[in-house]
Amino acid sequence: MVNIRKAAMIGCGFVGSSSAFALMQSGIFSEMVMIDVNREKAEGEAMDIAHGLPFARPIRLYAGTYDDIVDAAIIIITAGANQKPDETRLDLIHKNVEIYKTIIPEIAKRNCEGMLLIVSNPVDILTYTALKLSGFPEDRVLGSGTVLDTARLKYLIGEHLKVDNRSVHAFIIGEHGDSELAAWSNANVSGVRLDAFCEMRGHYFHEESEDKIYEEVKNSAYEIIQRKQATYYGIAMAVKRICECIIRNEQSILPVSSMMHGIYGMEDVVISMPAIVGKDGVEAVVPIELDEEEQEQLKKSATLLKELNTMIKTEHGVK
Ligand SMILES: NC(=O)c1ccc[n+]([C@@H]2O[C@H](COP(=O)([O-])OP(=O)(O)OC[C@H]3O[C@@H](n4cnc5c(N)ncnc54)[C@H](O)[C@@H]3O)[C@@H](O)[C@H]2O)c1
Repeated sequence: MVNIRKAAMIGCGFVGSSSAFALMQSGIFSEMVMIDVNREKAEGEAMDIAHGLPFARPIRLYAGTYDDIVDAAIIIITAGANQKPDETRLDLIHKNVEIYKTIIPEIAKRNCEGMLLIVSNPVDILTYTALKLSGFPEDRVLGSGTVLDTARLKYLIGEHLKVDNRSVHAFIIGEHGDSELAAWSNANVSGVRLDAFCEMRGHYFHEESEDKIYEEVKNSAYEIIQRKQATYYGIAMAVKRICECIIRNEQSILPVSSMMHGIYGMEDVVISMPAIVGKDGVEAVVPIELDEEEQEQLKKSATLLKELNTMIKTEHGVK
């Protein structure tokens, strides 16, 4: 039986340990097992994070094995290679699909009933891989998708307009990667169309500003990796937010990546669209309105991912 208060973190590098740290502080879980192919790394991170517990809420935090994940409500996977400077997320595909071929069967053979939250990159392809290799129902396998990219977008719009970014409603959708797009046509600040809000704040060059902000969002990871080799705090907060939505059954709308069936003609592809996320994972994908150009961009992004899904089936035997 699933223990709704238990999480498993597979992969305890920068992203796994930062996410575990964020989760520890959140109080969402009362038990978390940390697993890494490098057992000492998992042990060290669990010890270090646990030493902050007297300043937080109780959680049993330990390094463990796959036998410890059986009753976890959410199994978060951050294991795998990360981007090096000048590498794209898609460059990681071969290494990380092979790593997933060792991890997912370990989960599947233990008949876990929890949810899989995929974070490793390329996240859309690995979520598809995890879905296929686990045999889990589709609503129980989701990827962090463009939740982080959307947070970056909101942050930058908030800075540009000098308004609380939580009042900004805008999404990055599509691949979590270079073919992602900003759904500008439905962006708004508390119900006021973005263009109108910009003008209210003295900004009139909409296209120029949108291009600049979009490029900054898309290139954030490259810029950060250039400076500090990895990105992890932003994604850690995104992981925490997704877990919170599931465990508290918030039914919030987050652009996680999940399997598509028909929205904007997308079929059998895992990609990010806003979705209602609650205790049963992805409850429904929300078909936000997109203009023609955005629909075209989304289609391109989905086509690229579909081609890569075909490639991992033929080259890596993911069935
Ligand atoms: N989805 C997102 O928005 C997002 C954001 C940042 C990073 N990432 C991705 O997260 C992943 C991890 O990044 P990182 O910076 O933490 O890398 P890292 O190298 O610091 O950590 C990866 C960890 O995975 C472990 N690992 C490797 N193979 C394993 C296996 N078979 N079983 C268990 N553990 C294994 C390694 O020992 C290491 O500790 C990368 O793929 C990165 O691109 C995703």
